Amino acid sequence: MVELKNDRFLRAMLKQPVDTTPVWIMRQAGRYLPEYRATRAKAGSFMDLCMNADLASEVTLQPLERYDLDAAILFSDILTIPDAMGLGLYFAEGEGPRFKKVITKRKDVEALGVPDPEQELSYVMNAVRTIRRDLKGRVPLIGFSGSPWTLATYMVEGGSSKDFGRVKGMMYDDPAAMHLLLEKLADSVTLYLNAQIAAGAQAVMIFDTWGGLLTPKTYKEFSLDYMQRIISGLQREAEGREIPVTLFTKGGGQWLEAMADTGCTGLGLDWTINISDAKKRVGDKVALQGNMDPCVLYGSADTIRQQVSDIIADFGEGSGHVFNLGHGIHQHIDPDNVKVLVDAVHEFGQQ
Ligand code: CP3
Repeated sequence: MVELKNDRFLRAMLKQPVDTTPVWIMRQAGRYLPEYRATRAKAGSFMDLCMNADLASEVTLQPLERYDLDAAILFSDILTIPDAMGLGLYFAEGEGPRFKKVITKRKDVEALGVPDPEQELSYVMNAVRTIRRDLKGRVPLIGFSGSPWTLATYMVEGGSSKDFGRVKGMMYDDPAAMHLLLEKLADSVTLYLNAQIAAGAQAVMIFDTWGGLLTPKTYKEFSLDYMQRIISGLQREAEGREIPVTLFTKGGGQWLEAMADTGCTGLGLDWTINISDAKKRVGDKVALQGNMDPCVLYGSADTIRQQVSDIIADFGEGSGHVFNLGHGIHQHIDPDNVKVLVDAVHEFGQQ
């Protein structure tokens, strides 16, 4: 059994009793923190930062120095896998992620290999090991990956997109090629997450940022089934503890029952549904993570405290709630407002 000073997050994920609601924040290490911007400048670029284990660990721990957070999340990106497949990830200033090579046809898909996480992605595993060493058991470390569908959107669009016409076009025009791509990605993600767990990740999360733009039928066929396959292939215990798996489909509120049936431990919720409704629908099966609108952090301290209190009251009695935002924190948020949020969760969450 690993010595953890604060295991509230792991306990809540398993719906075990907790003294108060645990909280962490998607993108908690990021540009809203001046100390992050300083370390990133020292590293050179975002990818240089991800590839330097000591600096990646430094930025992972920065938000824990400021706030009483109950979990750390590996500093990396979901696009490391397509990069390791040879697509050449880079970040153009102000434009978000871009790929030098784009997947446009079946031949491109056929040429892709499945990366060995301890070879092409060894820098990620080194970061996991270094962060675990530096955390010294303060809080658990969450590892993560993108979902196959979400990774495919970036690989086919070549970066971020407005209407996702290329990737949805390929799905309808050559579904077999899309399935081949998703199969290769599901195999890659399974190996990648298991390697993170072997390196020391104590929980994992699958980010399906773009699953919500599918139809109910295509969501199941092109996103959910591949996530289910990944979950079935994951190592679910390490260091004598269960490894919780969180599934987050942004915009997936109408599919919670199907998501809860994948064998995951918890569901991430965005802010478009009430957490009490989600709890009624799936709360006996899974823990729930979320779900404050990130833009509440542009409001006053009183507004933030009220919203936190409302969400915690809406979840109601019992364990199984991990407080978070419904999506990543914005870069223009005042860092002081995050302290208001984290402290309010622990205050209002007392059982
Ligand atoms: O949460 C954390 O603190 C851990 C680190 C993390 C990052 N990206 C760091 C990052 C995590 C978990 C991610 C996941 C990720 N990356 C997702 C899924 C979650 C989501 O937000 O929906 C997606 C879609 C990506 C792809 C990606 N990476 C985009 C679209 C961008 C640009 C975002 C922007 O606001 O410009 C990135 C870059 C990125 N990933 C940054 C960080 C801190 C900003 C890079 C910088 O320093 O300039």
